[in-house]
Amino acid sequence: MILLLFGPPGCGKGTQARLITDLLHIPAISTGDLLRAEITSGTPLGLKAQAIMTAGGLVSDDLVNAMLVNRLKRHDCREGFLLDGYPRTLEQALFLDRVLAQRGGGEPMIIHMDVPASVILPRITSRRQCPKCNRIYNVLHQPPKSAGVCDVDGVELATRKDDRQDVVRDRLRAYEQLTGPAIAHYTGKRMYHRIDGTQRPDRVFAAIQQVLRPAFVG
Ligand code: AP5
Repeated sequence: MILLLFGPPGCGKGTQARLITDLLHIPAISTGDLLRAEITSGTPLGLKAQAIMTAGGLVSDDLVNAMLVNRLKRHDCREGFLLDGYPRTLEQALFLDRVLAQRGGGEPMIIHMDVPASVILPRITSRRQCPKCNRIYNVLHQPPKSAGVCDVDGVELATRKDDRQDVVRDRLRAYEQLTGPAIAHYTGKRMYHRIDGTQRPDRVFAAIQQVLRPAFVG
């Protein structure tokens, strides 16, 4: 199964991606996490992406498309995968259409998580993330068992550089202007589903499972 997870910054894509992949046993590929790993490693791509991401813009389609194609070549993607944060522009959506057509295996399922900006800002500013395993926490809603450290590997949790209020506003603007046309490309397709992302994480996951169930049954 190929799943595309859409929604504005901080809507809960990463949180739900982890739950979905535990359920479906397919890898969750977050282009944001891949880019942050490039930055940490100091690669040429990371150096190009860093300033753009810190300012809340989008990294160029060519760079992100190439990075994605590279990741999809890995063995773990053979039976399917979930994309979190890709495609993010109409150009990326059209590119993905071509990649998927070449691979075969049918249409992707699209889950669009709807969350208004007023809910997003407090969620993002209280987010913390493990720099080692990328697990996501929230000091208000989903705190770690011990304050400030990851439940899984005990590493100190970090705040993302692009989670500052002014940058979040720019990210939301980029989402509306550039990702809006990508979503429009999928809206109305048979496999497109819109989910209310304002509920508690377990309720959002239950709604996603309802959407996934018919695909399991066939
Ligand atoms: P990326 O890392 O993809 O960021 P994003 O899309 O802005 O989304 P976030 O990771 O901020 O949030 P999320 O929806 O995953 O929410 P989360 O689960 O963490 O991209 C970062 C940057 O990389 C981009 O700005 C761009 O520069 C670049 N980039 C990435 N992909 C690109 C592409 N394809 N093309 C070009 N550039 C690209 O949840 C947020 C918080 O809320 C957490 O604290 C969580 O615990 C909490 N939470 C989650 N769900 C709930 C809930 N239901 N109720 C209450 N709290 C909740």
